[in-house]
Amino acid sequence: MRRVTASVYMTLDGRGAFPKYPGSDRSSSEVSALFRHMWYDRFDDVTTVIMGRRSFLGHQRTWSEKALRSGEPKWLLEYRRYLDRVEKICLSHRLKSTDWENSRILRGDLSRIIAKLKREKGGNIILEGGPAVVRECLRRNLADDYWFFVMPVVYGKGPRYWGPMKDQCTLKLIETKPGEDQEILLHYEVVR
Ligand SMILES: NC(=O)c1ccc[n+]([C@@H]2O[C@H](COP(=O)([O-])OP(=O)(O)OC[C@H]3O[C@@H](n4cnc5c(N)ncnc54)[C@H](OP(=O)(O)O)[C@@H]3O)[C@@H](O)[C@H]2O)c1
Repeated sequence: MRRVTASVYMTLDGRGAFPKYPGSDRSSSEVSALFRHMWYDRFDDVTTVIMGRRSFLGHQRTWSEKALRSGEPKWLLEYRRYLDRVEKICLSHRLKSTDWENSRILRGDLSRIIAKLKREKGGNIILEGGPAVVRECLRRNLADDYWFFVMPVVYGKGPRYWGPMKDQCTLKLIETKPGEDQEILLHYEVVR
């Protein structure tokens, strides 16, 4: 069965934002250990990436190979090529078409979309964002596991992931990994 992992990029106070903190905008000639773990190590097993419209368009603008900037480290090019070739699901009511290769636009109830994708052939699935889609996934407990990438900032603004939930969501800790710049990756599996 295909598994759905939701990536939750969050500040310590549970906001879906990318604030600056020491080291956050460091460019490195080597891929960081956490980025490698979350993406490179999964290039073979993850064959579908789900994104909300804003996140999808932002990723296309920033991370497709067409958006390549001169002088970038080689590891970024590998990530760009992966994002170009992986199947991408863009959730949108507004968007009617896309010119990003290997992409499909789907709309409707998120749990139905996830169930439909799970019935299709393929490897595992990452639900990559943005915060609006991840929030719905968290509040309705739709993923099989969650990767919380926690940044060392209490931000006090930006979209909140948590709010009222119909049912309690209980998780089992699979692993924790520290990042180079005080981030921490928490990997939890959903207990059903
Ligand atoms: N991993 C990440 O990507 C990440 C993490 C943290 C912060 N951010 C930042 O967050 C911003 C974007 O996040 P966001 O939360 O505003 O937007 P988003 O989650 O990327 O996209 C929201 C849009 O997705 C569509 N959508 C969501 N669920 C749908 C469904 N079930 N069926 C059909 N369409 C659906 C709707 O688009 P329509 O209006 O077309 O229907 C909705 O407006 C960016 O600025 C990004 O930098 C991103």
